[in-house]
Amino acid sequence: MAAPLTLSPAAAPALTRGSTIELQAVGKHFPGGAPVLADVDLRVRPGEIVGLVGPSGCGKSTLLRLLAGLDREHTGTLLVGGRPVTGPDRAVGFMFQEPRLLPWLTVAENIAFGIAPGRRSESAAIVGRLIEQVHLDGSAKLYPRQLSGGMQQRTALARALAAEPAVLLLDEPFSALDAFTRIHLQDLVLELWQRTQLTMVLVTHEVDEALYLSDRVVVFSERPARISEIVEVKLDRPRHRRDPALLELCGDLLEKLRLAGRWDRKKPEYEI
Ligand SMILES: Nc1ncnc2c1ncn2[C@@H]1O[C@H](COP(=O)(O)OP(=O)(O)O)[C@@H](O)[C@H]1O
Ligand SMILES: [Mg+2]
Repeated sequence: MAAPLTLSPAAAPALTRGSTIELQAVGKHFPGGAPVLADVDLRVRPGEIVGLVGPSGCGKSTLLRLLAGLDREHTGTLLVGGRPVTGPDRAVGFMFQEPRLLPWLTVAENIAFGIAPGRRSESAAIVGRLIEQVHLDGSAKLYPRQLSGGMQQRTALARALAAEPAVLLLDEPFSALDAFTRIHLQDLVLELWQRTQLTMVLVTHEVDEALYLSDRVVVFSERPARISEIVEVKLDRPRHRRDPALLELCGDLLEKLRLAGRWDRKKPEYEI
């Protein structure tokens, strides 16, 4: 009789581009605080872009940090590519609101920082390709202080991609940028998504951004965040920002967000 097959961790298959993300009954409670997340169930399909919107402070960043393995205290189950999240992993890329570049490194060096140790011999080629893909040609030797906010975020995006992640988590990555730069970066993210077919989860407070980029938009309730609605965006890409169908979805989503925030049901702060 053949011996039962046992898989050592080394034999586990590498995460592929566009891994599934699964959250099963995920909850979070900071010590001494009120619950932040309650009973979150969500399955993000390989290569899908899911937007997360919800009232400020409801727990969106907390959820992304859990998915990235930056915080391991939670209840329920979090799986990326079918594997439990046990800590930070190169397969899970992260982009923050601020670029978090190392000021003493050039653009090229900051991007190279993301490359896995096993691929360092190919650094020059990988960095060169990414610089071209994020449209930073000619800026490789500049330092972060010499870059505009948009160029800094392009560098941060290239650094995240240098790790060849299977999923990319984006926490309000464009919210500190002006409208013009933000629109260009949204299109850049879509361009790179089309090239890589990464699975993406994007937290944003811009409803139009969520709808322009996402396949589905998840609306969270006030803290503790629960999923209150999921809006499917069944519009082909490239999408047009002035498409009446997109604008109608925008109005609907704003209303859902208003109800999720229960702003209208709150007592006024003072009464006359
Ligand atoms: N490290 C922490 N310790 C205690 N409470 C925290 C911590 N991080 C976040 N919180 C609280 O959790 C809640 C959700 O925060 P966050 O996930 O940042 O909200 P969002 O991103 O939706 O605006 C907030 O009330 C915040 O004060
Ligand atoms: Mg946040």
